Amino acid sequence: MSGLTKSSIARKVVMALSGFFLVFFLAQHFTINFTSVIAPDTFNEWSHFMGYNPLVQYILQPILIAGVIIHFVMGFVLELQNNRARGVKYVKFKGSANASWVSRNMIISGLVVLAFLALHFYDFWVHEMAYKYIEFKPQDPTRYHAETVEKFAPMWRTVIYVVSFVLLALHLWHGFASAFQSMGVNNKYTPSIKAFTKVFAVVIPLGFVFIALYHHFNPLTH
Ligand code: HEM
Repeated sequence: MSGLTKSSIARKVVMALSGFFLVFFLAQHFTINFTSVIAPDTFNEWSHFMGYNPLVQYILQPILIAGVIIHFVMGFVLELQNNRARGVKYVKFKGSANASWVSRNMIISGLVVLAFLALHFYDFWVHEMAYKYIEFKPQDPTRYHAETVEKFAPMWRTVIYVVSFVLLALHLWHGFASAFQSMGVNNKYTPSIKAFTKVFAVVIPLGFVFIALYHHFNPLTH
């Protein structure tokens, strides 16, 4: 195997492993956020725990941010590499004949999710850092639900979030299944794994859409 092929496989494996990690994060993030709809007190409790637990704050949070950065940087590298390979090897490459729009445009859906994350960090994470480390406000385990609901009051932010979640669904639709392929998983469970990835790709982003719309339209919470 040539060095080039080996390093390209290594990149795909890094992409797949960081992708699995982010999928795992997404599942736990969704579980906590869904409690903002069905059990506001639980949402407050869990958010407070996540916001002040030293293990979460100083170990898991930096690991998560590193995971996001690795996934996106490696995504760009793979995209550049694929473009170069396509230009040289497949002069007659006709994308639509060989792959779906979603799989050929992972970089576009990925960029939309990245742009969403920038806004999302500004909305929640920057606010949280300022609250704790700049304004030195006292701990208040009851504030998270109201703060989250408040964020979804403006129509513009709700629309941006919803559109981003649709692009996230497209990204996961191809990416989650493809990660198993990159890891070389190919056995009798493959069809079930594939079905699970497709269900996850639809249900979790739609769940996020539901949370955003619920807080935007629920008059009881404004
Ligand atoms: C309705 C949907 C969502 C709501 C209500 C929501 C809410 C929140 C909140 C309250 C935080 C702050 C946590 C903290 O105190 O640090 C947060 C952080 C974060 N969210 Fe979301 N989120 C949503 C969707 C998403 C999605 C779809 C993604 C990924 C594509 C995402 C990625 C993140 C990341 C990476 C962080 C930083 C994590 C950290 O601070 O440790 N969120 N989100």
